[in-house]
Amino acid sequence: MKDKVLVAYASKYGSTQEVAEAIAATLRERGLAVDIQPMRKVRTLAEYGAVVLGAPIYIGAWHKDAHNFLSRYSDALSERPVAVFALGPTRDDDTDRQGSREQFDKVLAKFPWLTPVAIELFVGKYDPAKLRFPDSLLTSLPASPLHGVPASDLRDWTAIRAWADKVHSTLKVGKQNPERNQ
Ligand SMILES: Cc1cc2nc3c(=O)[nH]c(=O)nc-3n(C[C@H](O)[C@H](O)[C@H](O)COP(=O)(O)O)c2cc1C
Repeated sequence: MKDKVLVAYASKYGSTQEVAEAIAATLRERGLAVDIQPMRKVRTLAEYGAVVLGAPIYIGAWHKDAHNFLSRYSDALSERPVAVFALGPTRDDDTDRQGSREQFDKVLAKFPWLTPVAIELFVGKYDPAKLRFPDSLLTSLPASPLHGVPASDLRDWTAIRAWADKVHSTLKVGKQNPERNQ
C-alpha cells in the first residue's frame, strides 16, 4: 500500500469537517501520513494508498459532493481500501439511529462497486439558529421532522476516535474486508 491516506469530507455547517479532522488526527497519532481535504478540492488520488470518506446526510441523501466524488473517482477507489462514514441523526436514540442507518445503506447501495473496509454512522450536530436558506425554510415547516427540534451536539468523540483506530488497524493489515458482505 502507498503509505499516504486521504481523508476527504463534505460538510455544510462544519460538524462533519470537525469529525474528519479528529479522524485524521487519530490516524496521524498512529503513525500514518494523512492529508485532509474537502472532497470538492481533490484533484487526484494517485498518491494515496487508502481513502476515508465522510459526509452528512440531508433529507435522506448523502451530501452531493460525496455522490460526485464517488462517481468521479470510481476507478481509483475500486483499487484502494476505502472507509466511509456519515453524520446523521440529531437525536441519540435507537429509532433515529436506525432510520439514518437505513438512509445511509440506501445511499451506499447506489454504488455497488464500492466495498468499504469500514462503514460508520455518527450522531451529528444541529443548530437551527445557524441554518441558511433553504434549510432554514425546510425545518420551519411543521411537516419537517426537525421542526421545533432544539440545538444539540451529540457527536461522540470517543466513538469517533475508536472508529479511526479500527480503520487504522484495517489499513495496516492492508486487506479488503468488505463490511457489507459480512
Ligand atoms: C435540513 C436538514 C435536513 C437533515 N436531514 C437529515 C436526514 O435526512 N437524515 C439524517 O440522518 N440527518 C439529517 N440531518 C442532520 C445532519 O446530517 C446533521 O446535522 C449533520 O451533523 C450536519 O453535518 P454538517 O454540519 O457537516 O453539514 C439534517 C439536517 C438538516 C439541517
